[in-house]
Amino acid sequence: MRRTCLSKLAEQAPAILPSLLQCDFGHLADEVQRLADANVHTLHLDVMDGVFVPNFTYGMTIVKAVRSLTDMVVDVHLMMVDPQKYIQQFYDAGADIITIHAEAVEDARPVLDSIKSLGAGAGIAINPPTPVSAIAESLPHADMALVMSVNAGFGGQKFNEDVLTKLPEIRSLPGGEEILLEMDGGVNPDTIKKCTDAGAQLLVAGSAIFKQDSYTDAIDSMLGKVN
Ligand code: DX5
Ligand code: ZN
Repeated sequence: MRRTCLSKLAEQAPAILPSLLQCDFGHLADEVQRLADANVHTLHLDVMDGVFVPNFTYGMTIVKAVRSLTDMVVDVHLMMVDPQKYIQQFYDAGADIITIHAEAVEDARPVLDSIKSLGAGAGIAINPPTPVSAIAESLPHADMALVMSVNAGFGGQKFNEDVLTKLPEIRSLPGGEEILLEMDGGVNPDTIKKCTDAGAQLLVAGSAIFKQDSYTDAIDSMLGKVN
């Protein structure tokens, strides 16, 4: 699927992207099926290296396992230093979209260009303290901008409203007109409308889905607030 997924994602907005961080990895196939049954079309995978963030999750092995289970779009959020060293491996594992953090690289532009030249969608992420100005020059090189509404590293944190103004700010910049806007962290039925009102198209949600018995009800209750 790779980069051709991008225009489809824009058409399907607003969309909920389950973050698999809190899923039951012992029953990964069942979890992916439950999400497919809830009409999910894009999965969000959080890669943490214990260096860029004080938490450690998984790498390309899990991306590959998810890829083997589904044709859904696989959106890989790299919270790691030196992401450029591993872009090829995440691509080979099946990532459709690869997002790097602006804070993790000296110059995001060549990394975004190499993600695109492989054929994947290229995303640039910023943590709450990082201003939009830090990614202004990267926007023309990116397909997606990921605005973190919590500090990257852990699920289950409280949504930080202060970041909402970043979305229209990105949209107004050169290269921001067509970019996909993704919001990640603390998205739930109480916060989702604030995100879409500010222009978010892709809403990543972990706790709001995986702590509920019915993923379908959890997702529908969020979409019900914005549709
Ligand atoms: C945080 C991750 C998020 C996180 C979202 O660093 O990037 O994707 O799993 O989880 P919730 O929805 O619980 O904030
Ligand atoms: Zn994430």
